[in-house]
Formats: sequence, C-alpha cells, structure tokens
Amino acid sequence: MDRIFRDNDIAIGFSSNTSQKNSSDNIIFKALGSTIYRLYISIIYQRRRRGNPSMILITDRLSTACALKETIQVVEPCTVVALGQAYEVGSEHTIVICDIDPGTPDVLSLTKAVLARCRPCSTIPVLHLARRGGEAALGQARSLGATAVMPHDASPTQILFTVKRLVEARRSAVPRTAAPAIAVVADNVRKAGSIYNGVLGSLRSGEPVSVDTLERGSTAVLAAVGGGRLATWLDVVRSYDDITYQHCLLVACFAASFSMSLGLSVGGQRLVAKAALLHDIGKLHIDRDILNKPGKLTAAEMDVVRRHPAIGHRMLVNQGGFDPQVLDMVLHHHEFLDGSGYPDGIGGDAIAPLVRLLTICDIYAALVERRSYKAPMSSRDAFAILHGMAGKLDRGLLRSFEAMVEG
Ligand SMILES: [Fe+2]
Ligand SMILES: [Fe+2]
Repeated sequence: MDRIFRDNDIAIGFSSNTSQKNSSDNIIFKALGSTIYRLYISIIYQRRRRGNPSMILITDRLSTACALKETIQVVEPCTVVALGQAYEVGSEHTIVICDIDPGTPDVLSLTKAVLARCRPCSTIPVLHLARRGGEAALGQARSLGATAVMPHDASPTQILFTVKRLVEARRSAVPRTAAPAIAVVADNVRKAGSIYNGVLGSLRSGEPVSVDTLERGSTAVLAAVGGGRLATWLDVVRSYDDITYQHCLLVACFAASFSMSLGLSVGGQRLVAKAALLHDIGKLHIDRDILNKPGKLTAAEMDVVRRHPAIGHRMLVNQGGFDPQVLDMVLHHHEFLDGSGYPDGIGGDAIAPLVRLLTICDIYAALVERRSYKAPMSSRDAFAILHGMAGKLDRGLLRSFEAMVEG
C-alpha cells in the first residue's frame, strides 16, 4: 500500500517505527516473535481488564474483523460493530478502531454519525485502517477525527502495537496526580532547553552544531511532550525569558506533539523536532534590536528579518550532515500555499507536508508565547487569526492541529 504521507522516512500510519514506538517493545518483539509477543501483552494486561467491553471496532469487513478482534483484545475487551448495525452506547471506550472504506459521501457521513455516538470525548483515540493511500485518503481520515492511520492490510500484531501505544498514550495523558507529571515534564523541558542552549552557544561562537547533541535535544523534546498534557509544558516553556530560546522550544514542543498526534513515525517526529529547534537559527545573525523591537517593524527592518530562513539554511548546508527534509523545513517555514511567503515565494505542492506542519506550529507559537511587552494571546484568538489566513495554510492540517490543542 502507498504511504499516505509521502516522505522518505515518514509515513502516517504503519511503518516498523510507528507501531514500535516504545523501544522496550521493540526488544521484546524481536526476542519473542509475534505470537509470543501477543501472549506477553495478554499477561501484562490481564489484571487491567474490566468486565465491560472497552475497545470498539467499527467495520465494513466482518470477515476479517474476528481475527483482528482476537488479537487486539489482549489489551482490553473489544466489541465489533458492523457499519449500519444498531449500536447501544455503553461504557466509555478507550479507543475506536475504524476499519471502513469511506469512499462515498453516504458511507462517510454514516461513519461520522457512528463515530459521534461511540466517541463522546475527543481525547478518545481513533485508529483508522485506510484502504487507500494519498492525500485524499488522509483528508478523509482527518475528517473522521483519526488520531493515527495505518494500512488496512497491516497484520493484526502490527495493529496491536499501535492500539497498545494509543491506549497507553491516552492513559498517561491523564496523570493520577498533577505534581509528578509537572515535575517530569519540567525536567525534560529543562533538559531540552539546556541542550538547545549548548547548540546556540556553539553557533554563536562559530562552532559546528553537534548532530549527537541535536539528537539528544529532540529526544528530550519528545519525552517532554509525550509525558504530559499540553498545558503543562506550555506553562514551563513560557516561563523562560529569552525570546528566541522560548520560541524555538515552544515550536519544537508543538511540532513534536502534533507529529505524534498525526501518527508520524518516530523517525519523522525526530526530524520535525530537530527542524523546529533549528528553524530560526538564522536570527542569530539578525540585529537583536530589530528582533526585540516591541512595535511594528519598518519595511527596511522587515527585509532584514526576512533573511533569517536563508541565513539559517546556509549555516546548516555549510556545516553539512543535515537531513534534506530538515534543511527544507528551515528554509521554507515562512512560505505560504498561495505563494505570498518568503524567501522563495513557492506555493502549493512545492511546499512539503512537513514544512506546512511546521509553519502552522511556528505561527501559533509566536501568537501564544509570552513576550516582555505583551501578554500571551488566548488560544481562541490565535486560531481566529490562523483561520483568517485563508489560502495560505493547509486547512486540513490546521483543523487537526486545532483539534489536538483544544482536545
Ligand atoms: Fe522564522
Ligand atoms: Fe519561528
């Protein structure tokens, strides 16, 4: 099956990385093989199972649903509902698995109606098993509120990996007590911040950026956003005073969190986190008085600021060793789909999906971050501005981002 989100290293949906997010899972899976792995998960989850069905599989392929149900219900009991079948709303589900081909408007609207009934809360993850690849299929999955997308022909064990990951991610997003979660998130944000500080220090003194250091920075960012709720790390990052430092960390946290919620592979999440940390490094060569000017910039000052993507890109190209997708995100994070952005004025398909993702996170972060001369804008006002940028931003991605932030 074609990858839905075409990129060398990235697939929304199944890849060995996506479904094997947890490294301990990888080791266990490789050591035990798929059958014994399922037994292992069964034993781990035995104590957690409740009497009432907790997962729901909505399907238009009853012939294959039984095998899938048998495999995944080692995590939680699972109810299978055929599309069109009467469905009694019972206890809250921990995950909705949607194995439906929403190829026609009728099926799409019927599927939406069923999802609305069995998913009263937007934090309940939806795993969509897609029959087709490409942007259209991704758009349909998004319109169904999919948290993650996998090919329909992924093996039941591969699907089990992702189900387990999504169920656990939701569980950990609701900490039993706030204090330990805040401490862990703050610790990871601080770790990411100090690593990022080291990167900035190297660049300021003309030294190369250590690729290993950057890798550790992206790991800390992913740990921070994976271990706590959005409001928690937002508060921690906003407490920093340095504008560029705060901004890049905030963009990295939003972009990493958004990548996770879209179901990008771990490799893809790392690329996005690294690009987000580096996206504004060109500002190191822009006059600080201009960058910190509280009021509106003059046309001449704007021209100077607009040089930063090309300067940052050149710094990384000169050093060498950076992934082309990271370079693309750094160079083009201010481009718009209608061609009105900078530095190259490219538009439409010339702007890669990951660049579009980063652009939305960048603008949103700039609006909601704290500045010495302004209070943070409310999320509602920020989204009003983003939605007002009609034709410039990827509407589907913007809706998904809003659902993640407001969810
Ligand atoms: Fe920028
Ligand atoms: Fe930025």
